[in-house]
Amino acid sequence: MTAEEALTDDPDADTRRAPRLFTPLTLRGVALKNRIVISPMQQYAAGCDGLPTDYHLAHYGRLAMGGAGLVFTEALCISPEGRLTYSDLGSWDDACVEPLARIADTMRKQGAMPGAQILHAGRKASVQRPWDGFEPLSGIDIGERGEAPWETVGPSALPANPGWPTPREMTRSDIGAALAEHAAAARRCREAGFDVLDIHAAHGYLIHTFLSPVSNRRSDDYGGSLEGRMRFALEVADAVRSEWPDDKPLFYRISCIDDEDGGWTLDESVELARALGKRGVDVMDCSSRGLGLRGTPVVVPREQGFQVPFAERLKRDTGLAAMTVGLIMEPAYAESVVAEGRADLVAIGREALNDPNWPVHAARALIGPKSYESVWQPRYGWWLSKREKSLEAARRERSGKSGKESLL
Ligand SMILES: Cc1cc2nc3c(=O)[nH]c(=O)nc-3n(C[C@H](O)[C@H](O)[C@H](O)COP(=O)(O)O)c2cc1C
Repeated sequence: MTAEEALTDDPDADTRRAPRLFTPLTLRGVALKNRIVISPMQQYAAGCDGLPTDYHLAHYGRLAMGGAGLVFTEALCISPEGRLTYSDLGSWDDACVEPLARIADTMRKQGAMPGAQILHAGRKASVQRPWDGFEPLSGIDIGERGEAPWETVGPSALPANPGWPTPREMTRSDIGAALAEHAAAARRCREAGFDVLDIHAAHGYLIHTFLSPVSNRRSDDYGGSLEGRMRFALEVADAVRSEWPDDKPLFYRISCIDDEDGGWTLDESVELARALGKRGVDVMDCSSRGLGLRGTPVVVPREQGFQVPFAERLKRDTGLAAMTVGLIMEPAYAESVVAEGRADLVAIGREALNDPNWPVHAARALIGPKSYESVWQPRYGWWLSKREKSLEAARRERSGKSGKESLL
């Protein structure tokens, strides 16, 4: 079935083969009801303690009600120093377990598998919230909001962007501490009851900066060759796996390319994915770019599914499952990506902010009106199904009458 055939208002659509987007996927002991994932999206809504609030409960509950098989929390920062802003959620204190457990439980009760993501922002830490400028914190922020900048760290003393603060080069003891923080964060996510965990190693944050030769100029065994640059990323996977249950899947988000001269390449991503697969990673979460500035140079058109080829390549060459993300907005397109085997999972980000019901609307588009009964939760679907039938009956009656009138 082509994507065009899949997108239909035809009431008989239900008799066709079920769209692949709505087929289940089991990863280790976790069964996802469909292939739609809500991508991690920071909300910058926490207080300085990094703890979730009622806002987060409502936000994630709403996203879970939208029908995705898996909903990720935003990045949960593994240490206060690893935050982007003073409003990031954290996973550094045992106090986060209880409120995170409420979020995980709420997601599950609304029909989505609950996923968490963990992050250390590295040299991109200590910035303003997006709407305050998204620039590195400075004396101005102390004056305006009492928010003092803090020291950032990275594999080498190289700033993320010209004019940005220079991070401190991490010592081996810093590296050991970061590994322990990743493991402790994974433990807290486990204790909170999440079913899926995603390690954020993309977008110029700490792990990504170890991978890329642009940001990693170390001369010890954490730099230099591909093997050296991958060392920290693999050790993080080991540390996290040591705390993450064997029956729960581990995702790993990478920037598959840097898109910079001398930067990290897709071939290197394949090598990394193979090594991660041997360390218990199940799904490659395929993003790209962001090593430095957020507005990276546009060398490929930013169109729907522009990152799908990365997932396709990693899936094909490693045998691991792959998730794609990036400007996916049309149900028929998402269906084609899964149906053609280019990715196992399709993650939706901003489109879910635009329409938290995107997954169930995709079901309506791909499956037809019966999706109100088969996919939508009954508290909404029962009424919408009745509405659809009564509108259809009214349409028939109208066209019947106008048909008679035209005969007279
Ligand atoms: C508000 C916002 C916050 C984001 N926060 C995160 C994050 O916490 N972790 C992450 O891996 N990506 C983050 N991203 C990137 C998204 O997960 C996603 O990869 C990106 O938005 C592209 O997908 P989209 O075009 O469907 O939005 C964020 C994106 C947005 C718009």
